[in-house]
Amino acid sequence: MNVLVIGGAGYIGSHMVKSLIEQGHQATVLDNLCNGHRDAVHPEADMVVGDLSDCALLKRVLDYDYDGVMHFASYIQVGESMRDPGAYYRNNFSNTLNLLDAMTGRGGRLIFSSTAAIFGNPRQAMIDENHPCEPINPYGRSKWMVEQALADHDRAHGIKSVCLRYFNAAGAAPDASIGERHTPETHLIPLILQAVSGKRPSIEIYGDDYDTPDGTCIRDYIHVVDLCDAHLLALKQLKEGADSAAYNLGNGQGFSVREVITAVERVTGRVVPFSVAPRREGDPDRLIADSRLAVKELGWRPQRAELDTIIADAWRWECRRP
Ligand code: UFG
Repeated sequence: MNVLVIGGAGYIGSHMVKSLIEQGHQATVLDNLCNGHRDAVHPEADMVVGDLSDCALLKRVLDYDYDGVMHFASYIQVGESMRDPGAYYRNNFSNTLNLLDAMTGRGGRLIFSSTAAIFGNPRQAMIDENHPCEPINPYGRSKWMVEQALADHDRAHGIKSVCLRYFNAAGAAPDASIGERHTPETHLIPLILQAVSGKRPSIEIYGDDYDTPDGTCIRDYIHVVDLCDAHLLALKQLKEGADSAAYNLGNGQGFSVREVITAVERVTGRVVPFSVAPRREGDPDRLIADSRLAVKELGWRPQRAELDTIIADAWRWECRRP
């Protein structure tokens, strides 16, 4: 297949490009490099540096007949979205409308990076696709608005899409060639690994008074390579004529912040320096995916589901990252 990967220089996008090429497909990356890294893009991929706000460029890029478009380009920080909602609605929602405009008239297939943040405060421990979508911040709202726009564009223009709602993406390529490289880094696992490797003095646990067994928040960590597998399966399913769909992607198992710290100590053999800080605004006490629909319909089988495997891959990357 020939795939356009928008945001292919970012964390998950660059792993997607690597997976595509290693499995014999072709990839063209469109990325404005505002958060992505050119050196994270597989050398066999074609690269277009540009932005989704550039409608003329989008039309030119889409003149090529791709088997599918995978759209990873978005802002991802919940706190930042509270401070600057306009940036999130513009980049995550309005720019995706530009993409849909450019796809209109050509049909096409789109795999969209969505998020567990569309669900808002969970009503039950395990979140399946029937859970109400009630996002509580502009980041989650911008993604949910795209999901609704995708359904409308299917009805009106026949653009088929699959929305993949990631829970906590983590890990790195098992060969440690690429991994997570956000500036600033806000995600738990890379922050802990930076603390054990001395790149930062320590980490803060954001609250230990949650309604969980050890008082710290519980999350469902999913390996970035397993997320990429789901994207490829979703695109193949659309190519075979399936309808648009949405799937929650996680391992169905939650780990508390303290359990992640213990796992990092087990994997690295080092002590994690930490302190307990106040809660971070907007953190639900637990988020765990019920991904049985993706298993059933996509045939998705996560291969690197163990927390220790996710951390070991992230650690190898952390030790050699530029
Ligand atoms: N945490 C700490 N200290 C830190 C960083 C994080 O204790 O320094 C805690 C958080 O409070 C949270 C857990 O570790 O309980 C995981 O936090 P992350 O920031 O790694 O991830 P989130 O669960 O906040 O966010 C992830 C994605 C978002 C997505 C969200 C879905 O990164 O894009 O899941 O709700 F929106």
